[in-house]
Amino acid sequence: MLTDRLKAMANQVEQGESVVDIGTDHGYLPMYLVKENISPKVIMADVSKGSLNKAKRNAKEFMPDAKFDFRLGNGLKVIRKGEVDTIIIAGMGGNLITEILGRDMGKAKSAKKLILQPRTAQGRLRAWLIKKGFNISEEQLVKEGKFICEIITATVGEPDEKYKLSEDMDSIKWEMPPWVAKLKTPLAKEFINSKIDRENRILKSMENSKVITESDIQAIKNNISYLEDLLSGEY
Ligand SMILES: C[S@@+](CC[C@H](N)C(=O)[O-])C[C@H]1O[C@@H](n2cnc3c(N)ncnc32)[C@H](O)[C@@H]1O
Repeated sequence: MLTDRLKAMANQVEQGESVVDIGTDHGYLPMYLVKENISPKVIMADVSKGSLNKAKRNAKEFMPDAKFDFRLGNGLKVIRKGEVDTIIIAGMGGNLITEILGRDMGKAKSAKKLILQPRTAQGRLRAWLIKKGFNISEEQLVKEGKFICEIITATVGEPDEKYKLSEDMDSIKWEMPPWVAKLKTPLAKEFINSKIDRENRILKSMENSKVITESDIQAIKNNISYLEDLLSGEY
């Protein structure tokens, strides 16, 4: 029933942990956590009534005897501070995820663990987490269709030295960090290569532009050189 992406997130939840799934939509992940007896308590939450109804319909159809807690509302507003061990926020943009966490920092920091799966602005989310006093405990890459999805698990606490990058949050180093390259899986290699292809396409499009400066071109070349160093293991 679960896609590899949802399964990879479920694997981050430890036996006995209570969970809220913010933006649950179909509700498959919390349903799995209950079905497998991983979580004794799951809250399915969504800001959209239509989405929450989808979760309710699915729960009724596939797990009619299970008890779920459905909550309609924006971000972490639906939970109390310390109410759950784990907060899952998946399938949204990284900027929206930082907004949701940042608006209710006390609640975000009261959880033992955050499992985040940003669809965009992944680098910004990493930089934000480190700046705001979270540590990254694990990163995973998972293929879903043609997309390579990034799953970031974070906990409250002093970040490890390797996460303290001095670069701007839009830097390629936050977007494609050395610690993700060091996963050294075929998917990590494919991921880096896809970013090299993208940077090369940008470089090509710059050749025909009159408004691009030499330093713009150099910035892209630096990105490519950094990504190639990651691939060869020299970074
Ligand atoms: C693309 S779906 C992701 C569903 C599921 N989490 C997954 O990863 O497969 C995004 C869901 O997030 C919900 N959402 C968007 N902004 C939200 C917010 N501020 N608070 C709660 N839910 C939100 C949307 O209504 C939608 O159901």
